Amino acid sequence: MAFFIQGLSKKETFYLTKWMIETGRKIDLSDISGPKIDKHSTGGVGDKISIILVPIVASLGVKVPMIAGRALGHTGGTIDKLESIPGYKADLSIKKWKNIIKKTGCSIISQTDEIAPADKIFYSLRDATGTVESIPLITASIMSKKLAEGIEGLVLDVKTGKGAFMKKKKDAENLAEEMVWVGKKYGVKTIALLTDMNTPLGRYAGNSLEIYECIKFLEGEEIKDLKELTFTLGAYMLYLGKKVKGIDEGMVMMEKVWREGKGILKLKEMVKAHGGDIKIFENPEVLKEAPYYKYIKADKEGYVEEIDAYKIGLCARELGAGRFKKEDKILPLAGVVIYKKQGEKVKKGDIVLKIQTEDRKRLEKAYELAKESFKIGKKFKKRKLILGIIK
Ligand code: URA
Repeated sequence: MAFFIQGLSKKETFYLTKWMIETGRKIDLSDISGPKIDKHSTGGVGDKISIILVPIVASLGVKVPMIAGRALGHTGGTIDKLESIPGYKADLSIKKWKNIIKKTGCSIISQTDEIAPADKIFYSLRDATGTVESIPLITASIMSKKLAEGIEGLVLDVKTGKGAFMKKKKDAENLAEEMVWVGKKYGVKTIALLTDMNTPLGRYAGNSLEIYECIKFLEGEEIKDLKELTFTLGAYMLYLGKKVKGIDEGMVMMEKVWREGKGILKLKEMVKAHGGDIKIFENPEVLKEAPYYKYIKADKEGYVEEIDAYKIGLCARELGAGRFKKEDKILPLAGVVIYKKQGEKVKKGDIVLKIQTEDRKRLEKAYELAKESFKIGKKFKKRKLILGIIK
C-alpha cells in the first residue's frame, strides 16, 4: 500500500524486482535448444493475444516459456482463460514445464511457489486491495516472473486507455520505459509496444468465450484487431530470436504459418501436454453455451462510436469472469459477446451485446453495466491500435 501511494524510484523498483525474483529460483533453460523469447501484456479486456501468439511463434522455432497471470481488477487473465478448458493444468513443476517446452516448443503456466512466489502472493492481494494501478508494482510483478524464466528476449505489450491500468499515454510510456530498463539491466533484450486499450480486443470477453475466439482465429477466421496485434508482437519475438532480419519479414512469416494452420495444431499439442481436453477443438461451440443470458439492443440507428473496455471488463467480472475477493471462483462461461464493434453500423433493434453467465442472480447488475458500456452516434473516428515502440 505504501509503494502504491508513495511510488518508488527507478532504483527502488529495480531492487524490488530483484528481491521478488530471489524469493524463488531462476530457471536455467540452457539445455533447451533455440532462442527462448517471451511476451507479456500489462492487462486488458478481451486480451487473448498470448493464447494465439504463443503457438504461432513456437511453430516458427522460437521457444516460448511463458508464466502468465490470472484476472486482475477488471481485466482478464491468460491462466483463467486456459483453465476454462476442462483438465488444463497450469501449476506445473519446473521439470514438467521444461519437458513440455522441449517437446512442443511452448508452455503457459501460472505463477508458482518455485518461480517468483512473492508475485503470486502480491498479485492476489493487490487485486483485493485496489493496489493494481502502480508503475513500480506492475513493473516488479511482470519483470520478476519474466526475468526468472531464463529467457533471452522479451516483448511487452503496454496498454493505455480506458480499459488499461494506465489510462494516460504518458503513464504507459513511463511504465514501458521502466520495464525495458529493468529487462536490459538483467541482460535480457527487451522491447515494448504501446497499444490502445480503449475498446476490447476481438468480439469476446470472458474465459471460455475467449478460448472459442482463439480457436476460430487460429482456424483462419480474419479478426482484424487480433491479427494486427498478434502478428506485430510475434514479428518482434521472431526478430529478437534472430529468426528474421526485420519486422516486415516477421509479419510475412506470422501470416504464412497462420494461413497454413500450424498455430491451431500447436495450440492443440500444448493443451494436450497440459492435460486439457482437446475435444473442445472438434466442437468449440460448447465454449459459448451459457444457461443464462440477455441481449442488449440498439435504441437508435447510427454507428457504434464507443465500446468502453473498462465497463465491459467490469460487466464481465460481475457476470463471474473475474474475482472480487481472492477466494472467488471463476465461472468459465461468464462473459460478454460484442455483436457490433466500435465503428460498425447499427439499425434500431440490432443486438449490440450479449451478456451470459452460469449464475442467474448476476445478470441484473451486469445488464445495467452493459447498457452503459456503448454509445451510438452519427460518426466514428478510427483509432490506431499500435501507438508506439519503446526500445
Ligand atoms: N500483469 C502482471 O503480471 N502483473 C501486473 O501487475 C499487471 C499485469
